[in-house]
Amino acid sequence: MNAFAKKTALVTGASAGLGVEFARQLAPHVSTLILTARRWDKLDALKKELEAKHAGLVVHHYAGDLSLADTPEALVRWTGEMGLKVDVLINNAGFGDYGPFESSDWTKVRNMISVNVMALTELTHRILPGMVERGSGTIINVASIAGLIAMPDFAVYAATKAYVCSFSDALCNELAGTGVTVTALCPGPVPTEFGDVAARPHSSRIFQPPAFFKVTPEKAVKDALCGATRGSARVIPGWVVKVPMLGMEVIPPFVLRNVSGLMKALIQGKNPKKAAENEPVAL
Ligand SMILES: NC(=O)c1ccc[n+]([C@@H]2O[C@H](COP(=O)([O-])OP(=O)(O)OC[C@H]3O[C@@H](n4cnc5c(N)ncnc54)[C@H](OP(=O)(O)O)[C@@H]3O)[C@@H](O)[C@H]2O)c1
Repeated sequence: MNAFAKKTALVTGASAGLGVEFARQLAPHVSTLILTARRWDKLDALKKELEAKHAGLVVHHYAGDLSLADTPEALVRWTGEMGLKVDVLINNAGFGDYGPFESSDWTKVRNMISVNVMALTELTHRILPGMVERGSGTIINVASIAGLIAMPDFAVYAATKAYVCSFSDALCNELAGTGVTVTALCPGPVPTEFGDVAARPHSSRIFQPPAFFKVTPEKAVKDALCGATRGSARVIPGWVVKVPMLGMEVIPPFVLRNVSGLMKALIQGKNPKKAAENEPVAL
């Protein structure tokens, strides 16, 4: 992890799940962490935890909603006003919406596209020129295996992650020789708050992938950071996820469209609480 020594890293979505883990694994190496998410109390607790544990580490936190159009610019302006230059950008903030597209809540869908696609792209656009000028930088864009295969019941989420994969691959190629690397992290299911946030109110269905298919946040982040230091374009943590995903690359698209139905069955669980309460089912 010497590549991160004395660097300044910005982690989005640092109040929960993979973002907290990115902050914890970067903390022993970097000199400065900038943490952002909406929940200030969670960021504040993490700042205190990390500064107490790592002497010399400075942690800044910024509470902002990345679904709002002005937030990425305001965040980057704020880092500039504090004299910080971002060397490591972890575009991690994101969320899903689980259920059929036709009954989705448009505000949630629009916000998801804003966070997963627009904010990630704008932060990269605003931070990348400084990295290229300095001749070094690391960008990790958190995509998903959902970005590698169309996913019924996760239609828009998977499409946003396909964007992240495509965008990251293109940038990785564009930036060859500049000293800046771009890595797309494509995890399978990871136990975080993701499933709760993706679930719809009053739905009896929950996102519940089988245990053998999951990787821990620790493993996903460790693989991402190692991959980024090697300059890998794409990281898929865990062999049980990686092997079938690599296999899918040689399957013709018309077959793949049917395989994606299997994915739907694999991740679907019933919410016993909701079913028992006999609440209206939106899905
Ligand atoms: N867990 C999985 O199974 C899985 C699999 C593949 C990829 N991923 C991807 O991994 C990334 C991290 O997700 P996670 O699993 O760690 O989920 P999580 O535990 O729900 O964390 C999501 C993070 O994103 C932040 N966020 C959400 N909406 C935001 C907004 N409008 N503005 C600013 N920050 C926002 C949340 O902070 P606040 O709520 O405090 O704003 C939180 O810190 C996401 O991009 C997700 O798509 C997850």
